[in-house]
Amino acid sequence: MRTLRDIDQLRSTLQEYRQRGQRIALVPTMGNLHAGHLALVACARQHADIVVSSLFVNPMQFGPGEDLDGYPRTFSADQTQLTEAGCDVLFAPAASSLYPNGLDTHTRVHVPVAGEGLCGGSRPGHFDGVSTVVSMLFNLVQPDVACFGEKDYQQLAVIRKLVADLHMPIEIIGVPIVRADDGLALSSRNGYLSAEERSTAPLLFGTLCTLRDALERGDSIESTLQQGKNALYDAGFVPDYLELRDASLGPVNKTTRQAVLLAAAKLGPARLIDNLSVQLPSGDAATAGL
Ligand code: PAJ
Repeated sequence: MRTLRDIDQLRSTLQEYRQRGQRIALVPTMGNLHAGHLALVACARQHADIVVSSLFVNPMQFGPGEDLDGYPRTFSADQTQLTEAGCDVLFAPAASSLYPNGLDTHTRVHVPVAGEGLCGGSRPGHFDGVSTVVSMLFNLVQPDVACFGEKDYQQLAVIRKLVADLHMPIEIIGVPIVRADDGLALSSRNGYLSAEERSTAPLLFGTLCTLRDALERGDSIESTLQQGKNALYDAGFVPDYLELRDASLGPVNKTTRQAVLLAAAKLGPARLIDNLSVQLPSGDAATAGL
């Protein structure tokens, strides 16, 4: 695997692959890699000849008071994991390469609607930061295909809309959530949890599963979501949101069948997010109050 920090080197390296007619896949990451990231690399391998992974802790997507400075940086372990996973090129630019004049005057990409509410509501500007850095990475790498995790369900929706609205010729592939044996979605931020918090953390997924079962039985959406929030508070979480949306993140209505439960909750120092798809029953039981 070649590790490149320089934009010109990246461009000339990828140009050679492209001239040979090779298909390029991109897996953007912020490092501190785990099996969830490696599933994206494996997916990328299946869809292209050359896999490029980027590792960049993007300052533009962190709000004031968020964990930019403390974000785990494990570069050499990440390099080893990517090499073993069959990644061909690791692009790890410095912030001064991507933002040579700093953040304040840098062009920002805003994706309306998809980036509003949910994480966009509680982290203002977050998705502008994500859309901006991903647009830069797409322009630099010019991949045929790019893989993103369904764990960040709203992020995936934002990227799909970005690519569609700006007519970027890139296929976006969503990869299912990789979980620990106890159900907790793998995340670079799980390392912030104490041993006790780590044993509580799977209750986020457990709660989503309980709510899904209730909704699929036809229980009322409003009272089921309220029960879920109460269960999270009782377990020691501070829920940020717990919502049911249709699969495209629009509001659920009487005709919605394919829905998704989305949750974000603080547990000690960590903000955890998770989601689970729900097949709403036909008839108007669950959606009776809508
Ligand atoms: P990061 O949190 O490092 O995640 C990189 C990619 O890995 C994202 O597409 C994310 O959805 C995916 N991922 C993380 N945990 C996963 C899991 N348990 N199962 C499956 N996929 C998982 O997301 C970002 O970085 C950044 O916002 C980025 C897109 C790189 C832009 O800076």
